[in-house]
Amino acid sequence: MATDNFSIDDIFKRALNKTSIFKDRNVLRSDYIPDKLYFRDEQIRIVAETISPVLHGARPSNMFLYGKTGTGKTAVAKYVFSKLSQIALSKSIGVRFAYVNTRMAGTEYRVLYEIARDFNIPVPHTGLALSEIFDRIFKNLSRDRFSGLIILDEIDFLVKSHGDDLLYELTRANERLSGVFISLVGISNDLTFKEYLDPRVLSSLSEEELVFPPYTAEELKVILADRIRLGFQPNVFTEAALNLAAALAAAEHGDARRAVDLVRVAGEIAERKNLAFVDEEQVREALLKIDQDRLVDALRSLPLHSKLVVLSVAGLKDNVSTGAVYNNYSQLCKKLGIPELTTRRVSGLLNELSMLGIVSAETVSLGRQGRSKRPKLLIPLTTVKAVFSNDPVLFDLVKYVEDYVE
Ligand SMILES: Nc1ncnc2c1ncn2[C@@H]1O[C@H](COP(=O)(O)OP(=O)(O)OP(=O)(O)O)[C@@H](O)[C@H]1O
Ligand SMILES: [Mg+2]
Repeated sequence: MATDNFSIDDIFKRALNKTSIFKDRNVLRSDYIPDKLYFRDEQIRIVAETISPVLHGARPSNMFLYGKTGTGKTAVAKYVFSKLSQIALSKSIGVRFAYVNTRMAGTEYRVLYEIARDFNIPVPHTGLALSEIFDRIFKNLSRDRFSGLIILDEIDFLVKSHGDDLLYELTRANERLSGVFISLVGISNDLTFKEYLDPRVLSSLSEEELVFPPYTAEELKVILADRIRLGFQPNVFTEAALNLAAALAAAEHGDARRAVDLVRVAGEIAERKNLAFVDEEQVREALLKIDQDRLVDALRSLPLHSKLVVLSVAGLKDNVSTGAVYNNYSQLCKKLGIPELTTRRVSGLLNELSMLGIVSAETVSLGRQGRSKRPKLLIPLTTVKAVFSNDPVLFDLVKYVEDYVE
């Protein structure tokens, strides 16, 4: 539909004629792995040394890499694997490499499927028992005399959603392989999953452990300057904007992903406004947009009962207490005709929501009556309403909350 000042053809025409402020957007994606990884020589060296025995046919120790989000764990692991696989290929060394992000894979079947696929072992998309896929992997490696190196990224997801059976099998694989072996590199930014692991699996996975520290603002500046040089036309991204993006990402927790996201989104904002430069103002706008998007994503992907708890907190009036949250929650469950969770589970959900920064649960003293939590919504009610109004189950309840809120 074209109006006086809007025509889709014009947009595309402009896009064709205009030289973009971007030189190469790809390098600003957060899964892009640059040729040069700064400030990670030590980590690269340790990972490389740990897995290098594979080059003379010995089994490398399993490794566990951890550190906060955006500290370069995935980038370093993939970088070392890709260098090693080039050498292994050129010297015809019998080793195959697999990379699986267990959060993106989702199911145990998919994790094993992706390992088999990276090892060039045919396995159907669905339908086999997990034990059958294991058998095929082990038989193929033994028969073709290939060892396997496997990166299990975001391994906490696998363990928290499916327990440690699959890891147990993988860490015990060497008992079933003859002449070849399987070694693992596990990666996580969340250490709480260790509680879900059998002690034998834990000690096997953590034969070697390596911590990735957060980046400082100065380090982030170097990392960003490089990405800006590759991603933008010369002299487009101002020095002041670069400094601000590095400082903002460092203030969070030295997160390089957030730093790169800030730069990319600031560029997109400048481009949309037809600006020739990206300055501090666009970085500030980018920060707001990223935070907003993150909250919306977090809200949208909550399980149903957590969403109901958010709505229950949103509907609190003067009586701010966990009891009042539970009352609202149980009314909402009745409206939907679904069984309620126990108060204990609801209070567990409240804790999870407070860890996500959606609800605050400040504790206040009630004198002799002990202490009580005062749940409060930390995000604008308008955001909650906007997200839940698009939810096929919840959109009716949003109206109901509106009634009892105002
Ligand atoms: N040392 C570095 N030099 C250059 N770029 C880096 C460096 N470390 C991280 N990056 C970039 O920052 C982004 C995030 O890095 P990465 O994906 O490795 O983080 P991570 O530690 O795996 O985080 P998460 O725990 O969230 O998965 C990527 O775009 C990556 O290319
Ligand atoms: Mg990662």
